[in-house]
Order: sequence, then C-alpha cells, then structure tokens
Amino acid sequence: MGKVILGIETSCDETAVSLVEDGRKVLISLLSSQVDLHRIYGGVVPEIASRRHLELIFPLLDEAFRNFPKEKIAAVAVTYGPGLVGALLVGLSVAKSLSYALNVPLIGVNHMEGHIFANFLEDAKPVFPALVLVVSGGHTDLIFMRGFGDYELLGETIDDAAGECFDKVGRVLNLPYPAGPVIDRLSKKGKPIYKFPVARLKEEGYNFSFSGLKTAVRVFREKNPDAKVEDIAASFQEALVRALVENTEKALRDYKPAKLYLAGGVAANSKLREEFLNLGKTYNIPVHFPSLQYCTDNAAMIAAAGYHRYLLGKFAPLNLNAYPSLML
Ligand code: KG4
Ligand code: ZN
Repeated sequence: MGKVILGIETSCDETAVSLVEDGRKVLISLLSSQVDLHRIYGGVVPEIASRRHLELIFPLLDEAFRNFPKEKIAAVAVTYGPGLVGALLVGLSVAKSLSYALNVPLIGVNHMEGHIFANFLEDAKPVFPALVLVVSGGHTDLIFMRGFGDYELLGETIDDAAGECFDKVGRVLNLPYPAGPVIDRLSKKGKPIYKFPVARLKEEGYNFSFSGLKTAVRVFREKNPDAKVEDIAASFQEALVRALVENTEKALRDYKPAKLYLAGGVAANSKLREEFLNLGKTYNIPVHFPSLQYCTDNAAMIAAAGYHRYLLGKFAPLNLNAYPSLML
C-alpha cells in the first residue's frame, strides 16, 4: 500500500472528499453537489453553501472510510483558497480536526493548483515546460508551468471569468444554473451563425476580457427575441472559445512549451477540448485534459496536489487560515 491522502474540497458549492493513493490511484471520490439548492437563486448563495457543507461533509467521510480505515491515511489535504470564505472554513475545520486527532500532517492546497493536478491523476507522462489554461467559474488563467509547483501567470481575465460568462449568458437565455454544460449541449443542436465580438486587448500580453461578449449576447437577444436559442448558444460558445484559443496559441508560439494542458470546470466544454486537440496537431505537441468528472470541482484533484506537497514535506500548521483570494 502506497501513501493514501485524504482530500477535502468545500470552496464553493460542491462538498467533496476523496482518497487517492500515491497521487494517482483514486480509491474513492465522493461529491455532494448543492447546485439544485442554489439554482432557484441563479447562482451560489454563500451562506447557504457554508451551512450545507456542514451537513454534507460527515456523511461523505463516513462513506469514504467504510472500506478504508481512517487510521491508515498518510495526510489530510484541504483547499484553503481561493473560494468563499465561509465555505472554505467548513472544510478547513474538519481537515484540521482529523489531522489533529489522527496525528497526521495537514496540507493546505490552492484550489487552482488542484484543478491543474486533476491532469496528473491520469496523465502518465507529464512533460514540462507546459502551457496550462485554467478556466473555471472564478478564474481564466494562462499559466507557463516549468514543473510541479512552478507557475508563471502569463495572462488572466480583466473582468469576468470564462465560466462566469457562460453562467451569465445562461441567465440572459433563461437557462438553468450552471449554464456551461447546458450551453455546451444546446450548441450541438445549433449553428454559430451570429458573429459576436471577441475582445482583443490592445496591450501586449495574454489577458482576456469577456464582459463585452456577455453584453453583446444580451443586446442581441433583446433585439432578436425570435432567434433560436441553440444558434445563439453555438455563436456565443464559438466566440468565447475563439478568445481562449487565440491567446493560448499566441503563448504557444512565444513560449514553445513541450505540452499543453487544460483545467477547471470549463475544460469540460466539448468545443474547447476539440480546439485544444487541433492546437496540438497544428503545433505538434501533446495535449492533455482531465476526464469530465475531474474537470469540475472534486476532491481527488486536491488529494493529488496534496500528495505532491506531502513528498516535499510542505505541511501546514494547525492555525492555517482560509484565503478567499489566494494566488497560485
Ligand atoms: O471549476 P468549477 O467546477 O468551479 C470553480 O472553481 O469555479 O467550474 C464551474 C464552471 C461553471 O461556470 C460552469 O458553468 C462551467 O464551469 N462549466 C462549463 C461546462 N461544464 C462546467 N462551461 C462550459 N462547458 C461545459 N461543458
Ligand atoms: Zn473549481
């Protein structure tokens, strides 16, 4: 038996626990999604999220430890930011208590690093330097990764995150939250016949901007109430993915990485995955993205990132705090 890390994730609206052996072998990955609870509000309500984590986390831990005695875990890895502070505090408090009671190290994991490590749960051949596009509900980061733990932020969004843009456009189109997967599905039945603008920032660099695109879709919808939702969805998705791919391609040419990775909830998007595979072919470099279940929030990715820190002996003190705006 290798080293089994318990991963705990409560940064937003998914309560998740996982047991991962040696950073790769997922023994169990459990998730209690709260999306149904938040859907009626059209987004995550922080206080409801915290309270729900409190109710859900121990049943999940009970289930995780049903076939694996908790005394055998090597460490507890927990997300300590970025995320909703009240939600983070639930996972942190539980993780600390377990670490204290079982006398095993506590490991603090950055949620975004977790998303990146979702790739290494399955990628048998990590290659560096790599270019990583992390696209989630709160982040749109283009990262040059020289090795595990070595990240250079090349570009980020100056306004809305890619996932946030999907969700806001979903509201304009009267789609349920979270709208990303719904728009993905609708797009397959529509055609990208409308040309929505892709913001090209004047400054040098690799930053993104999505608020203009969101507004363009809203204005279009108001002026064309009879346009098919499927066609609007496909046109919007086309424009957003184009923006992501253009900057990624620019960085590919400038930095010449050895591998291309995609991470975060929006990495589940079928059009984006397809375009990344095309980039790989054009530039003749390998491409990897996590399987769908590890793109969106989960605890296996937190355990995987935790295992890397475990090997380096990077443990957290028991007074570790939550950091809503933690940087990579
Ligand atoms: O990484 P994640 O689960 O949570 C955060 O850390 O934010 O990402 C959630 C985001 C949501 O905005 C959701 O709409 C989006 O990922 N998403 C998608 C797809 N699946 C989830 N966006 C586009 N296409 C998808 N298939
Ligand atoms: Zn996330």
